Amino acid sequence: MMSEITISEINDLFESVYKTYGYDFREYNPDHLKRRLINRMALSQIGSFGELKRRVIAEPVFSSLIFKDLSIQVTEMFRDSSFYEAFRASVIPFIKTYPFVKIWQAGIASGEEVYSIAILLREENLYDKCMIYATDFNQHALEQGMEGVYPESKIKKYIRNYQQAGGKASLSDYIVHDYNRIIINSDLRKNIVWANHNLVTDKVFSEVNIILCRNVMIYFNKELQEKVHALFLESLANGGFLCLGMNESFPASSIMKNYSTFDVRNKIFKKKYRALSHMK
Ligand SMILES: C[S@@+](CC[C@H](N)C(=O)[O-])C[C@H]1O[C@@H](n2cnc3c(N)ncnc32)[C@H](O)[C@@H]1O
Repeated sequence: MMSEITISEINDLFESVYKTYGYDFREYNPDHLKRRLINRMALSQIGSFGELKRRVIAEPVFSSLIFKDLSIQVTEMFRDSSFYEAFRASVIPFIKTYPFVKIWQAGIASGEEVYSIAILLREENLYDKCMIYATDFNQHALEQGMEGVYPESKIKKYIRNYQQAGGKASLSDYIVHDYNRIIINSDLRKNIVWANHNLVTDKVFSEVNIILCRNVMIYFNKELQEKVHALFLESLANGGFLCLGMNESFPASSIMKNYSTFDVRNKIFKKKYRALSHMK
């Protein structure tokens, strides 16, 4: 089935999707798009690509299923514990010297990553001078994040991650157990602004000191990664930090040269102090 969908069919479909719905997947990695479409065809018992395309364009309810399929939401609290350890050891000392800190977490899925950073800031007595902008283009995911309610079944893994990440207390200090769910304490939410933001089509909304965009750009092609990096460069204050996913890197040396590699293994980069005219 995989070989039956061609790149030009994929391009054609996502051109029509863009024109019909305004959602822009035209520069997503074609292998990712292909895998997700084939999966959807199997789940919805669709026999041909033509039928898939017809349904995507004619049926808004079906199209929203596709959009959901395409935004992979895998996430967890303190995912890649060594990243959080490194963030605590090397970024936190800088944050301590700032009077006020703005953090943009882009592509946050259901919000576990946002609460992980919030907990870390709380443990370092920095939470009250921080503002976290938590954004994603998937409204459903954002709403889950805002609610901060997660299945109890995940807690064992989250506790393990938290401990491996050098957590200073107990994860239970930050959550309430409620039957088969865990609920994040309201105290951790007060400095978080949740907003729908599409990295492909929306602009910079604020100058920030730290950007986390982890495991999002792996789904984009090189050109789109470059555009999103330009957005981050514009948004990040000089000397600010950019944190990428463990398997991510810069798409071009022209972008990389704006950063000093602060912690290569954990993908933490520091924006160089330069005049804006030298950024290009
Ligand atoms: C795999 S999750 C990563 C979650 C979290 N950052 C982590 O590392 O655990 C990828 C997220 O990126 C979001 N995403 C994908 N394309 C996006 C776009 N164009 N604009 C904003 N968010 C996007 C998806 O909706 C999804 O929630």
